[in-house]
Amino acid sequence: MLNIRTAELKKEDYIGKYVSIKGWIHRIRKQKENTFLLIRDDRGGIIQCIIESSKTNNLTIESSVEIFGILQKDSRAPEGGYELKADRLHIFSISESDYPIGEYQSLDLLLEKRHLTIRTRRMTMVSKIRAAILYFSRKWFTDNDWIEVTAPVIVKGSVEGGSTLFNIKYFDEDAYLSQSAQLYLEAMIFSLGPVWSITPSFRAEKSRTVRHLTEFLHLEAEAPWVSLEDLIKLQEELISFVIQNILKGNKAEFEFLKRNVSDLEKISPPFDRITYEMAIDKLQKEEFKIVEKGSSRKIEYGDDLSIESERILTINSSKPLFVIGYPLQIKPFYVKEEVSKQGLGIAADLLAPHGFGEITSGGLREDNLQKLEDRMVLEGLQKSNYDWYLDLRRYGSVPHGGFGLGIERLMRWFLNINDIKDTLPFPRTIRRIYP
Ligand code: 4AD
Repeated sequence: MLNIRTAELKKEDYIGKYVSIKGWIHRIRKQKENTFLLIRDDRGGIIQCIIESSKTNNLTIESSVEIFGILQKDSRAPEGGYELKADRLHIFSISESDYPIGEYQSLDLLLEKRHLTIRTRRMTMVSKIRAAILYFSRKWFTDNDWIEVTAPVIVKGSVEGGSTLFNIKYFDEDAYLSQSAQLYLEAMIFSLGPVWSITPSFRAEKSRTVRHLTEFLHLEAEAPWVSLEDLIKLQEELISFVIQNILKGNKAEFEFLKRNVSDLEKISPPFDRITYEMAIDKLQKEEFKIVEKGSSRKIEYGDDLSIESERILTINSSKPLFVIGYPLQIKPFYVKEEVSKQGLGIAADLLAPHGFGEITSGGLREDNLQKLEDRMVLEGLQKSNYDWYLDLRRYGSVPHGGFGLGIERLMRWFLNINDIKDTLPFPRTIRRIYP
């Protein structure tokens, strides 16, 4: 007796065979003699089953079952024209009749019941693509001889500025949830060379936007003796590799999500580039305004890019865009300064096309002890929390750099999803840590 998932089942070899499928009741349509059931398996596959109505008493939506019968081809059946002519039903559990997820729910209820909402086939497809992105990222790094490492999540210092730090009580000390593994990766390049990691990062983001989570999955890479050009090429290759592979391996999921992938198919190195200065020029020409304390003013050199300005820079582009060379004052303390141009950071952010905005941020790190200490003083960082980090500049400092990529940000672009919450099963935002 064959127990298989629907994806396997829908192959000619199984037609006419007696098989079984385990899953949940997705839909029920009862007629006098026969009942049509749509069974959803544990990978989100669907198959229509027909069974005598007398055998389906008290069956409810989301009841868990194993159903037995002969597989037939029937062009009227949904999802590929296969149907199971069933003669037996084993019930694991009858679901309570008030299953809260149906067709018309408020977004709030769907989030409140996220543990159930993730059973929707849409969420299954999103999660499968998420898994494939992680798989192919890991494959790219492994194939290219980068070593995977892990960094602590409980830390003593900030990386990306104090305003988005989550404080935690650590026995009798204060500690924080990590914003980035970067400083630890910097320590590890001295003994492992090029390293990368995938860790949750935390940001106490007070604003509610469609691209900010308070906990996100952070892919980070760091290597000794690299140039900004090396880092740019690396990101181009990594992202193109992931795209080409998920397009091949996850066709069904993209189709289900009705994501027309013709734009993604064209993504290959090199990506577009623009300097920060040119970006500001362009925004000025577009008369982009910054709203501050109720009044607005023209954007100027020295202003950080925002969701809105990044959208304008990329709305008409089909390729990702590197913005290169930011003023130091809008970048964190560790960014290395251009030797020939004071005040300019050797850094590049990557913006996704179609207005999705920043997906990676990286560059070279300040490797001079004195300069780094001065920057830390300027930013008011408490030196005692970073003494170990300064040791990396005291003992055999090397030029080095890296970048960080937000997996959920990447997914917004890949899946054409507006709200970042829809890219992962249990999103954490300023308003939600349940379930
Ligand atoms: O630009 P960020 O803050 O840079 C860093 O953390 C560096 N230390 C990384 C490094 O060089 N190792 O964050 C990097 C990326 C962003 O480009 C974005 O994709 C993502 O992390 N990110 C967020 N994603 C979702 N929600 C948030 N609140 C995010 N903050 C950053």
